[in-house]
Amino acid sequence: MAIQPSSVAAVRRQAISLLHQVGNETPAYDVNVLLGKVLRLKPAEVMLRQEDDLSSQQLEAFDQAIRRRVQHEPVAYITGTKGFRRIDVLVNSSVLVPRPETELLVQVTLDLWDEVGPCLVVDVGTGSGAVGLALAEERPTLHVLGTDVSNSALDVAAQNAKRLSLLDRARFSRTSGFAGIEISGALVTANLPYIPSGEISELPPDILEWEPRKALDGGVDGLVVIRSVVSQLEHSNAVGAIFEVGVNQSAPVARLLVDAGFSATSIHYDLSGYSRVVAALRPAGSISRV
Ligand SMILES: C[S@@+](CC[C@H](N)C(=O)[O-])C[C@H]1O[C@@H](n2cnc3c(N)ncnc32)[C@H](O)[C@@H]1O
Repeated sequence: MAIQPSSVAAVRRQAISLLHQVGNETPAYDVNVLLGKVLRLKPAEVMLRQEDDLSSQQLEAFDQAIRRRVQHEPVAYITGTKGFRRIDVLVNSSVLVPRPETELLVQVTLDLWDEVGPCLVVDVGTGSGAVGLALAEERPTLHVLGTDVSNSALDVAAQNAKRLSLLDRARFSRTSGFAGIEISGALVTANLPYIPSGEISELPPDILEWEPRKALDGGVDGLVVIRSVVSQLEHSNAVGAIFEVGVNQSAPVARLLVDAGFSATSIHYDLSGYSRVVAALRPAGSISRV
C-alpha cells in the first residue's frame, strides 16, 4: 500500500502501521530515521514537525524508503550511513552494518593501545572500516591497516577513509586474516564472522536476507574464522589481540589465545551483560618490536 499525501503526522502513522504489519520491532524509530533523512532532520526533530506537509518529492522519497523497509532492508542500507562511535560510515549491502556492541571492541582496543604504546593496529575483517577508522579518528597518531576477503567491502572502507580524511593513516589490503602482512609489534583487533552455520537460517530477515553471508557465517561452531586468525597470530610477533565474540564464545576464544602464547587475557561485557570482547597480550619481554 502506498503512502498517501498528507502531513508528517499522518504519513508517520501510516508508515508505522505498515512496518508493524510485517513484524518490524522498532517501527516508530525506523520511521523517524527515514522521515528524518527525507526531511533533513534529526530523528527526534521529526516529532516537532508533525503539522508540516511533505512536498510531492519528499513523499515519493519516503514512500520508496518505506517500501524498501517493508522488504526488511536494514535502515542503514536505505539511508546509506550508520553512526558508529564518533563517526558516520557509508554502508551498503557489501558490508555488515556496524553494531552498537562493536563500539566496545573499539574501546578495549583503544585502552590496550594506550597501554602498550603507539603501534600499528591491524583491523582484521574490516568490512566498512568502521572499527579501524573509529580508532584512527579517536587517536590522531594511530595508524591502521584493515584487511578483508571481500573486495567490495574494501571499496566501502576506502571510501570511508577518504570521506573521513584518514587516508594518510588508514590503508586496506585484501587477504585472509593478515596473511602476507608483516605485523611485528602490532595490535590485532577483529570482529570476524562468529555465528555458527547452523544458526544462520534462524536470523531475522533484516540480517538473513540482506547482510553478506561471509560477514556472518563463522563455520560449524562459529569459531572457524577466529581460530584461523589465532593460528596466524601464534606464528606472529603481534603484541596483542582483541576479538569480538558471540554468546558463550569468550572462554573458548580466551583459551585459544593462551594456547597461542598470549597471556593477560581479559573478558569485557557489553551493556546487555554478554561477554563480548576478549583481549590478550603477549607476556612481557616475549616480543621484539620492529
Ligand atoms: C562481522 S563483519 C565485521 C565488519 C566490521 N569489522 C564491523 O565490525 O562492522 C566480518 C567481516 O570479516 C570479513 N571476513 C570474513 N572472513 C575473513 C577472513 N578470513 N579474513 C579477513 N576478513 C574476513 C567479512 O568479509 C566481513 O567484512
